[in-house]
Amino acid sequence: MPAFAYVNGRYLPLAHASLPVEDRGTQFADAVYEVIAMFGSQPLDWRAHCWRLRRGLAALFIAGAPEEPALAHIAKTLWRRARLEDGLLYIQVSRGTARRDHGFPANTAPNLVMTARAFDFRQRLRQQQTGVAVVSLPDQRWQRCDLKTTGLLGAVLGKAEARRLGAFEAMFYREDGTVTEGASTNMWLVEPSGTLVTHPLSAHILPGVMRETVLRLARDAQFTVAERPFTLAQARTAPELFLTSTTGPLLPITRLDGRPVGTGTAHAGIPGPTATRLATLLWNEITRQTGWHP
Ligand code: PDD
Repeated sequence: MPAFAYVNGRYLPLAHASLPVEDRGTQFADAVYEVIAMFGSQPLDWRAHCWRLRRGLAALFIAGAPEEPALAHIAKTLWRRARLEDGLLYIQVSRGTARRDHGFPANTAPNLVMTARAFDFRQRLRQQQTGVAVVSLPDQRWQRCDLKTTGLLGAVLGKAEARRLGAFEAMFYREDGTVTEGASTNMWLVEPSGTLVTHPLSAHILPGVMRETVLRLARDAQFTVAERPFTLAQARTAPELFLTSTTGPLLPITRLDGRPVGTGTAHAGIPGPTATRLATLLWNEITRQTGWHP
């Protein structure tokens, strides 16, 4: 299926879609975005993504973007035209097009872009069986990682370094050793007691939609959950680590910096029981929301 795009009122094949050179997103990363999983043409956690988009727009003082019902209408139309089933819907709103100047331009309408492309979630089921490798890297990003802006250079360089080292993802840590998140994922640790630990919401991490969904599912299933920072040293001795994201959606981490995760446990270097259980709960939730079956 060819990827399709929507740009400011027009639907067209992605290869023919473009924005002006002076789009503020291009020149200043003055834009926010969302990536939404579509399972059999149904969005997962649509409202949570819209809420985060709205929050980002408000934080950047970008006014005039379409409201949720209009976004939903465009997304639906785009998906139909692309004739897709499973895939990723990308939404980007920039401040608009204006002569290059750092200050906000007057009377500029936002540029709204959406793209629709296929994505194979079933490959994730296979990766879930083996787990993925991550490498620790210093967090070199800006001070507002809670905003989902298109200023992703820190994440891009981190992901590239992780891939160069043969890993799936980077695990970012701060100078004090605190693990924040991945380049495009949230990070989790399972303590020997079974408590799930993930970085609390703050300017240091993106409030992941999948993070929130997994928190809810875990609490409903009577897991003990702690939203508090953990360190790289703790990650190195944890029985289990895993990551979450829209495209993950939940993958066990079986190697950290080349060493097996969970050393000294029966599942060292292979997915542990907690991540496996949570992944099952998450796939069930995906079925409940969208009707999709793995
Ligand atoms: N990335 N942390 C960062 C830095 C991210 O970029 C993402 C998402 C997440 C997970 O958030 P969510 O569960 O809402 O997908 C955490 C998207 C998928 C991306 O940039 O492609």
